[in-house]
Amino acid sequence: MMKNYSIPEISKGVYAVGSRDWNLKLFDALIPTHYGTSYNSYVVKGNEKTALIETVKPCFQEELGGKIRQLLGIGGIDYLIMNHAEPDHAGAIPYVLEMSGKTKLLTSEKGAKMAEVMHNVSADRIVKVKEGQTIELGGKTLKFIDAPWLHWPETMFTYLVEDKVLFSCDFFGSHFAKGVYDTDVKDLVGGAQAYYGEIMMPFRALGKKAMDKLESVEISMIAPSHGPVYKNPEKIMSVYKKWTAGETDEKAIVAYVSMWGSTEKMAKAVAEKLMAEGIEVSLYNLTAADAGDVAKDLVDSRAIVIGSPTVMGGIHPLALYASSLVRAFRPPLKYAAVVGSYGWGGCSVKEVTKLLELAKVEVVGSHEVNGPPLDEDYKKLEEVGKVLACRMRQ
Ligand code: FEO
Repeated sequence: MMKNYSIPEISKGVYAVGSRDWNLKLFDALIPTHYGTSYNSYVVKGNEKTALIETVKPCFQEELGGKIRQLLGIGGIDYLIMNHAEPDHAGAIPYVLEMSGKTKLLTSEKGAKMAEVMHNVSADRIVKVKEGQTIELGGKTLKFIDAPWLHWPETMFTYLVEDKVLFSCDFFGSHFAKGVYDTDVKDLVGGAQAYYGEIMMPFRALGKKAMDKLESVEISMIAPSHGPVYKNPEKIMSVYKKWTAGETDEKAIVAYVSMWGSTEKMAKAVAEKLMAEGIEVSLYNLTAADAGDVAKDLVDSRAIVIGSPTVMGGIHPLALYASSLVRAFRPPLKYAAVVGSYGWGGCSVKEVTKLLELAKVEVVGSHEVNGPPLDEDYKKLEEVGKVLACRMRQ
């Protein structure tokens, strides 16, 4: 007997046929996914034609095939829409194209090239679509919206006109295996923020452009490619508007690594002064910090304090990692302070400062100490915290 899948109908004639990856612990070999993730794929059934929007990670392709057969019988898919070429959504394209010879792959100009190169799709199966172009399924119209660099060059959105459903690929996504709808997941916005920090924040300017474009689109539901479907899209759209605009809060990240406790004392002294000045602080010992939590805080923090001892004539490797994350994620941080201790020759403060300035973050204070901090050092650290708080409030 064939397996009977539960297939939610998220809007009339629109079915969620993706897969849940409950056991995924790390995404992009970088960000912990404590709640797994999902690879969302959607069937849109019209009176005459049927479309599939995105596929799944290849290890789940048999499940996708089973759901398509259960839903459509021998009818099959007419249009397979690839909003994004990354393998977690496009990796099962060859499998789906193999299921029926009639299926055409619809994607952006850049997506067409990627489908050929990355997924070995022959050119005669590909139809390139442009901004504003529509296809009719019979009572259902799909419209394509250019949304490049979210977070690859080929990305686009697909909009179901009659139902006002936006299929947004990775944009508005979150890493949750559980739930069908936004109402099923507690602290969904927190999860979406960590996801945004890792995936979308480096492309904030393009994200803002997309948000501006969506102002003129009536949206009743957002169906992203990871995480639950938003039946109530207002909240996620309003936080995305803030995040993509680069708006920050009076909030600072204090991230440090310490070998013998001196740099830790220094970082905590600055953190305490910041808190005394009314600044919200998230403090991370980098030996145990979760990169997802840091990415989440980078989304709306205005400042960062990095503490690093000098080790083997340079920055401690964990502080180097944190400084690299700041460069790679391009957060809207404006200000920074750098502190550190050394045994016989200091340089970490100078080196971290250089890295932060390359990331266009203004370093407004620093202090480096030989050995453990003394009373006069605590006074200087308090001053560093005060100056930073003052700049953050300006
Ligand atoms: Fe979820 Fe960029 O793939």
